[in-house]
Amino acid sequence: MLLDGTGSIVYFNVYNLVLVNCIRSPSIGFGHTPTYSDQILEICVTSFRNIVRLLYCIPMIVSCCDCVASTPTASATYNGTTHVFRLDGGNVTYAFGVNNEGELESVYWGARLAPTDPLEKPKHKGRAFEMDDTPQEFAGWGGGLLAEPSLKISFPDGNRDLVLHYVSHELDQGGLSVVLRDISRDVFVTLHYSIDAATGILARSAEIANKTKTPILIEQASTGEWNLPPSSEYSLRYLSGRWGGETQLQSRAIEQGTTVLESRRGTTGHEFAPWFAIAQNSAVTEWDGEVWFGALAWSGSWRITIEQDSLQQVRIVGGFNPFDFGYELKSNATLSTPVLYGGVAQHGFSEMSQLESSFQLTHILPQSPHPKVRPVLYNSWEATAFHVTEQGQEALANKAAAIGVERFVMDDGWFSTRKDDHAGLGDWYPDLEKFPHGLKPLIDHVHGLGMDFGLWVEPEMVNENSELYRKHPDWIIHFDGRPRSQARSQFMLNMAIPEVQAYVLGFLDKLLSENEIAFLKWDANRVFAEPGWPQVSPDEQKKIYVDYVEGYYGVIRELRRRHPKLEIESCSGGGGRVDLGVMGLTDEVWTSDNTDPFDRLSIQDGFTYAYTPQVMMAWVTDSPNWYDHRSTSLSYRFLSAMQGALGLGVDLNKWTDQDIAEAKPMIAAYKRIRSTVQQGILYRLVSPRDGSNFSSTESVENDGSQAVIFAFLHAEQMQYPSPTIFPRGLREDAMYTLEPISGAVAEGAPSSASGAFWMHHGLAFKLEGDYVAAAVILKVQ
Ligand code: DGJ
Repeated sequence: MLLDGTGSIVYFNVYNLVLVNCIRSPSIGFGHTPTYSDQILEICVTSFRNIVRLLYCIPMIVSCCDCVASTPTASATYNGTTHVFRLDGGNVTYAFGVNNEGELESVYWGARLAPTDPLEKPKHKGRAFEMDDTPQEFAGWGGGLLAEPSLKISFPDGNRDLVLHYVSHELDQGGLSVVLRDISRDVFVTLHYSIDAATGILARSAEIANKTKTPILIEQASTGEWNLPPSSEYSLRYLSGRWGGETQLQSRAIEQGTTVLESRRGTTGHEFAPWFAIAQNSAVTEWDGEVWFGALAWSGSWRITIEQDSLQQVRIVGGFNPFDFGYELKSNATLSTPVLYGGVAQHGFSEMSQLESSFQLTHILPQSPHPKVRPVLYNSWEATAFHVTEQGQEALANKAAAIGVERFVMDDGWFSTRKDDHAGLGDWYPDLEKFPHGLKPLIDHVHGLGMDFGLWVEPEMVNENSELYRKHPDWIIHFDGRPRSQARSQFMLNMAIPEVQAYVLGFLDKLLSENEIAFLKWDANRVFAEPGWPQVSPDEQKKIYVDYVEGYYGVIRELRRRHPKLEIESCSGGGGRVDLGVMGLTDEVWTSDNTDPFDRLSIQDGFTYAYTPQVMMAWVTDSPNWYDHRSTSLSYRFLSAMQGALGLGVDLNKWTDQDIAEAKPMIAAYKRIRSTVQQGILYRLVSPRDGSNFSSTESVENDGSQAVIFAFLHAEQMQYPSPTIFPRGLREDAMYTLEPISGAVAEGAPSSASGAFWMHHGLAFKLEGDYVAAAVILKVQ
């Protein structure tokens, strides 16, 4: 409902919002969360325009006082006097307002404030020779703006000036929408905000509407700006990487200038994760200090800029990558940006990751708010590569089932003429030489062993040597008359083309309808090159950056609608497509093709800075490892992989009886700890980064009833004992029994002690040699 200029209607909406939350909110406690009565009181006080409204509020205060004591709340309010909008959720307050120029100006983003705290009307800060001082929520490129814009448009008459001012707003149950309009042209932008009651994580996106009579060209579009208080003390954490070396945590000071994190590749990419974390100062640690963080939900070319201007104003802008971007928006059409999720942690990077994990589990994943734990999976890739056969897969399945695997996945090589990576992609029917009676006999066999069945596909790709390419050479991304670059001997189908979407949906639907397939590993082993789309007019071709991703998302969405029990893993040559957009449509991700258990410690460590361990697939594979030839013990490999969602990629045919005897109890133990590992609270006790010789993680069940601790020694040196670690998050007074999973604790460790004992006295492991590991469970008696 729109504000009438005095704020009156809005306040009644807010009352509704609070009342609805009062009934629906989950009961997860947050320390500084005001009660509903506080909030309603605030609403009443700030809207104290006439006695009628106050009288209207009183019964609500009374009726809500008791029912809400420790329930987390989310609210969105507007103060008609100061023109300040405020969102409160978890331990966070976010505020912005309409300044004296009519711009939307950022006011506050940080720890939750008291309901009555003053948030003053913002004032435009332009100075005579500097025009970029005002921290706006969503600035058009125009009016002398020097900072990174949120939106840049070219109009057909040559005008490229865009100045957006506040028009109206609407408060609703989930948050708030604010409409901006250019000062003279009918370009409207609706900013959407919602805040999560439990974590305080804010979701922001923008919808751009062209209500002029001609098409306009959008050259840059983001979800908006996120402004921090001016300071020169901030430092940035981000995740960089490459194939086989994903999610490496990096750190750098934020200084005057701009840091750009991006993918220009049409997909999310290995090089950077669309995620950032900004620490207030260099003293911020895992456990202490304020951290602002955010992640973009987009699986196409993206960009996040972190800019400190000449007055030390730090702003973050994230959205479509403007590189080679040009979205022609027709008259009366709209373009929605991806969502950027942002949050604030008061207690360091550990709390940040916990908030992110909890939010992703309850709001992002397709099965949220209660995603199922990941089954223990077997995948054939490292065992057989392309050489899959019915008999060979059945033999592996027999062995996998015998050690406790729950899902058997046949990887690449099962279809068409696929003997290696030079042929077959695009022709999605079983290779009848390898599977003379189709997939059914193997699937039945797998089911007979009590496992469900999963299959590898790479739906967006096509080999030059394929029936599909011979029939539809024009379906790939290309420029007419120009070379068509291949990577891994393949092209990319243009998922922006409706016929391609229909083809991909069609063969996947057929596969799933004709076979009992519980799970797809959806791979994508190359990225955009020569990003042409000759089927549409030159003016529209650059829409490929948006329409490809929408096409890809649309196919998955429809597939899941038709096959509601289907689960999907997002894979892209390892971890090349991990972001909150794809995580909204898939149940897990393939973390990296690098399955070396030691390298994995830092890959997984970085991964958990941004993403929940629930989705982090980690396999036990053969030793020496194919990627780096390192030899490690089976227990080390298991313990490294058990920190995520456990899978096995070993060649089970080569396993000895001893390997089997060792693996069975490990898998059984994993099943007992997986809800804690995947969905509990993670503490990165000792980092494996920066040449660390020792590392340790702990995961604690949400109710504190169980903790799992992993410890890894890289190399024993000069007989130093392995360091004592100090578990966290246990119940001080409860008695916890120590149960080893693998390896040994140091001599003298008790078998049972209080949470206080374990957390303050600590725990040491007996780790001797190189690449050794141990793990224990602490369980409340
Ligand atoms: C790349 C993936 O990351 C691997 O796990 C495997 O599925 C291969 N593709 C198959 O071609």
